[in-house]
Amino acid sequence: MRRITYKDKEYLIHTRSGMRLIDSMREQGIPVECNCKKDPSSRLCLTRYPRSEAFLLTEPTELERSVLTPQELDQGYRLACQALFK
Ligand code: FES
Repeated sequence: MRRITYKDKEYLIHTRSGMRLIDSMREQGIPVECNCKKDPSSRLCLTRYPRSEAFLLTEPTELERSVLTPQELDQGYRLACQALFK
């Protein structure tokens, strides 16, 4: 189980290889918002994932690098719709 933070709330989630973080969260009942079809930079799915386990996720995408600050990336923030479990 991984401890994540979404909208200032902590959750424990199961993870599975090949699954996006957002799908993992939704599958486990976390109501992740999304507005990316209208505004890809909406950041509604912004989620903090433990840095110590970042190796389980793919590297931040071009979209994440364009809408998140380097500090947010350093702190483990990801767009849940972009982060994929390896
Ligand atoms: S789900 Fe819309 S920006 Fe991630």
